[in-house]
Amino acid sequence: MKMLEVKNLRKRFGDNEVLKGIELSLDKGEVLAIIGASGGGKTTLLRCLNFLERADEGEIIVNGKSVYHAVPGEKTEVTPEAQLSFGLVFQQFNLFPQYSVIENLMLAPTLRAKRQRSEGTAETHEEIRERAEQLLKTVGLTDKVNAYPCQLSGGQQQRVAIARALMLSPDILCFDEPTSALDPELTGEVLKVIRGLRDSDRTMIIVTHEMEFAKNVADKVIFVADGIIEEEGTPEDVLVNPKSEKIKAFLSIINKEELED
Ligand SMILES: Nc1ncnc2c1ncn2[C@@H]1O[C@H](COP(=O)(O)OP(=O)(O)O)[C@@H](O)[C@H]1O
Ligand SMILES: [Mg+2]
Repeated sequence: MKMLEVKNLRKRFGDNEVLKGIELSLDKGEVLAIIGASGGGKTTLLRCLNFLERADEGEIIVNGKSVYHAVPGEKTEVTPEAQLSFGLVFQQFNLFPQYSVIENLMLAPTLRAKRQRSEGTAETHEEIRERAEQLLKTVGLTDKVNAYPCQLSGGQQQRVAIARALMLSPDILCFDEPTSALDPELTGEVLKVIRGLRDSDRTMIIVTHEMEFAKNVADKVIFVADGIIEEEGTPEDVLVNPKSEKIKAFLSIINKEELED
């Protein structure tokens, strides 16, 4: 069974059709890299998968179960269960500035435990704290448990954001250009954490401009342009031997930028 299947996902903002029938599928433990020029719809795709935007049309199936099925003109409900299928790490980290590192991690699971208390299935405060400490260890931030986001570097903040996303144990973890807001010397520490997650068999979708990284960690790569998947395949197929003129042009611009850096 596939971990994720996305069928004919469509999204428009007014007259602007941003996603024009996206189709994806991922096995458990697979890593998908999404590349493409700015404005092509990559962020909108991740936001639709995380239900921060509602796709107008299409279906999202996780572990064989349809968690979202939109039919044009009809309102579509999103269950909490569907929302928990996906986690998202944002380009700008989006930590809660008023909370310490450990509080950032504990907030969502604590709210979930409150909801579950009546059912008797809730995690205790101690259990949540223990998991948070464990995840901070995984991302190498044990010494920052009580720090506030403003006291951390960008790379450290992004590692907290990754640990926070993992607290709700999503089936599929999504990253939207996780290193593009970082100074070059800080990208390595974040990419290393993501590579570690890959080695522990996590299913991930990563929007990135880091082509070397995509080549190294992705099982599949898709090139998105103007709301469609213009090209897809292995990293070798898409990044080394691309077929369409659009992706060739895109890659030559990226390569040129890298040479200039
Ligand atoms: N909330 C929104 N309202 C209106 N238009 C939007 C909104 N979000 C994105 N768009 C438009 O959707 C298109 C794709 O944007 P985006 O998904 O951010 O692309 P990418 O991440 O590939 O750069 C752009 O034309 C953008 O202006
Ligand atoms: Mg984007």
